[in-house]
Amino acid sequence: MNRTFRIETFGCQMNMGDSELIRLSMLKNGFIEAKNPGDADIYIYNTCSVRDNAEKRALARISTAKGIGTVKKRLIVVAGCMAQRLGEELVKKKIANLVIGPYQSPRLGDILAEFIRNKKNRLFISQEGENFAERLTPELIESKDVEPWHKWVTITHGCENFCAYCIVPYVRGKLISFPSDRILKFIKELADSGVIEITLLGQNVNQYGQDSGDIPFHKLLEKTASIKGLKKINFMTSHPMDFTEETIHVIKESSNISRGIHLPMQSGSDRILSAMNRKYTMAHYYSIIEKIDRIIPDYAISTDLITGFPGETAEEFHETLEAIKKIKFDEAFMFSYSPRMGTPSYSIKETISEKEKASRLHELIYTQREISLEKLKKRVNNKELVIAEKVSKKSGSEVAGKTFLNHPVVFSGDINDIGRETVVEISEVRGSTLFGRKIG
Ligand code: SAH
Ligand code: SF4
Ligand code: F3S
Repeated sequence: MNRTFRIETFGCQMNMGDSELIRLSMLKNGFIEAKNPGDADIYIYNTCSVRDNAEKRALARISTAKGIGTVKKRLIVVAGCMAQRLGEELVKKKIANLVIGPYQSPRLGDILAEFIRNKKNRLFISQEGENFAERLTPELIESKDVEPWHKWVTITHGCENFCAYCIVPYVRGKLISFPSDRILKFIKELADSGVIEITLLGQNVNQYGQDSGDIPFHKLLEKTASIKGLKKINFMTSHPMDFTEETIHVIKESSNISRGIHLPMQSGSDRILSAMNRKYTMAHYYSIIEKIDRIIPDYAISTDLITGFPGETAEEFHETLEAIKKIKFDEAFMFSYSPRMGTPSYSIKETISEKEKASRLHELIYTQREISLEKLKKRVNNKELVIAEKVSKKSGSEVAGKTFLNHPVVFSGDINDIGRETVVEISEVRGSTLFGRKIG
């Protein structure tokens, strides 16, 4: 009998994209997706290493895997960034039967089939074989049932920026840009098959092509936008050091590129930015915001922030607070610094207690919440283009999705609205969500 599997995904969008590749490679190898998770013979965890609590959460989930449902000899596969970081240790401690790094995601099904046949190989964490073909295969287009209208399109793998706090370059390896002709062909095939929304993915999409001499990112974005049938194109993440004015112009000129721009700032202090090895100053960051302001009439801006980087003084933290008040981000993803072994900042002595880190984070979140609310309120009475993503859990007669600026929105609707573009008139803000009614 064919074995069944389920996948649980942690971490960022790159992992979500990889989980789609994993799923496809499993199906191609004859494995069957379990209807009921408790019945799955194989549990696959696609994990994240970015902060200590991301790993703790994944390890806690994995430790429950053996006891779920009635399957006696369940195989545990740990994939993704934590798999790459901990490698052999996961096998030795009997946490996993098979460990596989992120670059191997499109081959997981083959590797697992081989593993079941001869039980020899337990560890695959290399980044060898720069084989992009499996990442942009038309077969992915067929495997549609996750979100049939939307696809993640990974344009680069890895990162070589070595921000001082960050584990990603060590677990994802060097920058590899996939060829633009293949990416564009793939996206065209997606659009022809009914996909209306895509998200171009990379740790720093603005560095696209720098390793391979391919076209620059803004050209890739422009060419993507000209593909017929695409209604919304998102891209992430943009690094301020490489975010160009050309990119801003391409966004302005293309009516199908989302106006939700994600531009991680990390800190509002020049000294901390330099210690983080971010390679830009606040003056540069502000100059990008001014350009976006000047060129794009209606947009939203979101960011990532870290509090409590080693040596961050109260004053430097204050600079971050002042910056978010000035810039007024629509949304911010805020984190307390988590030391990651092997990164440059791991060896800097931490001067800030956990209590102080948490208190700074709390203050930042509190301040940002007010700003987000203020920004959302400005959308009331607007007519927004929305792609609904799911039927609301609380009430079956409401759907939730995102506007063209990527604000979260709920409106009255049903399953037929999912994955379609709808015009919604915004009537109010509740919590951090817009509410409105469908008008077209
Ligand atoms: N490539 C993206 C971000 C990838 S990680 C970029 O350059 O912006 C996502 C976010 O996690 C980062 O932007 C950062 O804010 C946060 N992060 C990364 N490492 C961290 C650490 N050690 N402690 C706390 N937050 C961290
Ligand atoms: Fe990490 Fe910096 Fe690379 Fe982003 S750009 S993944 S924060 S090293
Ligand atoms: Fe986590 Fe790996 Fe993404 S460490 S944030 S899943 S690249």
